[in-house]
Amino acid sequence: MRVRVLRDGGETERMLVGEMMVERPFGAAGLADDLVQAGGAKTVVVNLEKGGIEQGLARAAATGEPPIMVRRGRRKVRVFQVFRHVLYKPTSWYLLWIDRCILPVKSSLTPNFRTNYQFLWTGWLRVSALLPASFPQRAAAGVSRRADMRRRENSMDLVQEPGSVPDKSEIRSCFDSQSGTLDRRVFADQALYDLEMKNIYARAWNFMCHESHIPNPGDYFINYIGEDQVIVVRDRQGEVQVLLNTCRHRGNALCRAEQGNAKSFVCSYHGWNYDLNGDLIGVPGLSSYYRKDFDKSQWGLAKAAQVDHFHGFYFATLDPAAPPLHDYLGEVGRIGLGLLVANGPVEAVDGVQKNVIDCNWKIAVDNLFDWYHVQYSHASAGMAGFMDLAAILHPNDQMVMFGEYGHAISGPVIPEERQAEIDAMTDEERLAVVAEGMLKNPDKPVAPPRPSAARDLLGPTGVRCMGHPNIFPNLWVSTNGTQLSLRLPRGPFATEIWWFTFLPKGLPEEIRKKQIAFNAHLFGPAGMLEQDDGENWSQSTRTSRGVVSRGYRHHLAMGLGHDEVMTDDAGAARVETTISEHAQRWLYRNWMDWMTADDWADLKANRSPVPQGRV
Ligand code: FES
Ligand SMILES: [Fe+2]
Repeated sequence: MRVRVLRDGGETERMLVGEMMVERPFGAAGLADDLVQAGGAKTVVVNLEKGGIEQGLARAAATGEPPIMVRRGRRKVRVFQVFRHVLYKPTSWYLLWIDRCILPVKSSLTPNFRTNYQFLWTGWLRVSALLPASFPQRAAAGVSRRADMRRRENSMDLVQEPGSVPDKSEIRSCFDSQSGTLDRRVFADQALYDLEMKNIYARAWNFMCHESHIPNPGDYFINYIGEDQVIVVRDRQGEVQVLLNTCRHRGNALCRAEQGNAKSFVCSYHGWNYDLNGDLIGVPGLSSYYRKDFDKSQWGLAKAAQVDHFHGFYFATLDPAAPPLHDYLGEVGRIGLGLLVANGPVEAVDGVQKNVIDCNWKIAVDNLFDWYHVQYSHASAGMAGFMDLAAILHPNDQMVMFGEYGHAISGPVIPEERQAEIDAMTDEERLAVVAEGMLKNPDKPVAPPRPSAARDLLGPTGVRCMGHPNIFPNLWVSTNGTQLSLRLPRGPFATEIWWFTFLPKGLPEEIRKKQIAFNAHLFGPAGMLEQDDGENWSQSTRTSRGVVSRGYRHHLAMGLGHDEVMTDDAGAARVETTISEHAQRWLYRNWMDWMTADDWADLKANRSPVPQGRV
């Protein structure tokens, strides 16, 4: 018997899947055995071609290897994930192409996790119309050209291209808030990823840059909304514009530098020239080649639907129906961004650290709420003397804040008694803490207690917050409000990590240098911490690709049902507790809301309410 698994991943992928087959006696190998026995086949060729049914068929035709056709319900045919569906979906129907036969197969999952199959030998001709004409078995069946066409017309509704919209019920099953378990599919599914780009990134407010990145007219900064690259530019009137970085002629990227100053944006392909506000102002050959038969005013650059800032941090959304930024952030989002300016107005430190980690973007996001891994994953940072983990962890003084649309803050909190002591100090006394700290340990930056004005800015709960905010979907306010990190999706299996540092204006040079050096060695490609993290995220993502491994859901139930939500006067909901996974659960509940909403009106009407009572 020969079982071959073909995937785009090539040798490595085959090897890994092969290992899983061996380890799972009732997995793929068991299925193949059953098929050989029932169908009398000598050879079972399993084609898990990732590119979809058309590509799968084309490849099968080119190589002479038949694909397996998988039917789920009445309408869907897929040529990948066959094992997952066969093994884990109770009572589903599939069509399997084996040697010279196409078999409708019914599988059911019994309580002891053995898989039963029932085989029927009818209906194969209908599906064979989908197979390329070069298949000898099909020719032998005597399918006439006209009958072929008719069958194609009747059968094409069976085809579901990968990348088409997954069922809402399927998405809703990805995270179970009762058990706190998560389907690994969320980390390894191209169709879900494509929907994330549309339903999350193209709708949300996305962080663009800080006002200090683009202080003058013509200053620009390149960023992304999902995978759409944008130019954030201050125009001649001083307005911040967010323009899609793609020429309206043939799509060339206009601006290749990451940051700079420009008078206009000239396309390097045919020379179309765009003003800083996106208007098309120059077209070579307008009179001669176009014979003046072209309306420039209709071909300006595409723009973000809304652009706004909060304390100088600029955001943009591509969706005109998105709520105003202030409302989108809500109390928790505003506290999160407020931490950046809690010590006064800030400016960006030159340069953004950028690197790519082989992980799904969501695991890089949910990890920022995870204070459970710190003492284990980052033990070496403590042992090396880089940081005192016990001093930052405070495992029993933790707070999780639940914000609108999936924003959350998770991590240590200043106990109320300690905050009362800080409140009693003058601002001069608070600053003196820095001098004391520097005397004790001259190598480390010292975070002073926040000044008295921070209480007005952040409110009575926010001012005690020492944790990690995430502005949904992917903006992390980190390092005690001195850093921002973007987790930019680059396909289901890669994330580009960006690190910005922001420091208060007028900070003494000695402290400034110390903080920059500390931040550069904390996260990013040279950071003590994110090297540990990246390895874990990468492996957690990779194992989600295993067709058997991904049948086992992640456990995110720490603290589930053990804490009571409190709400302060400003309306911010929180739990004060020990280390937990409340914020991760809130993230994935909201992820499902975004993914299943038809539009902003639907999301506003049907999103999960901020939790109350026991969580
Ligand atoms: S693609 Fe930009 S001018 Fe042709
Ligand atoms: Fe970490």
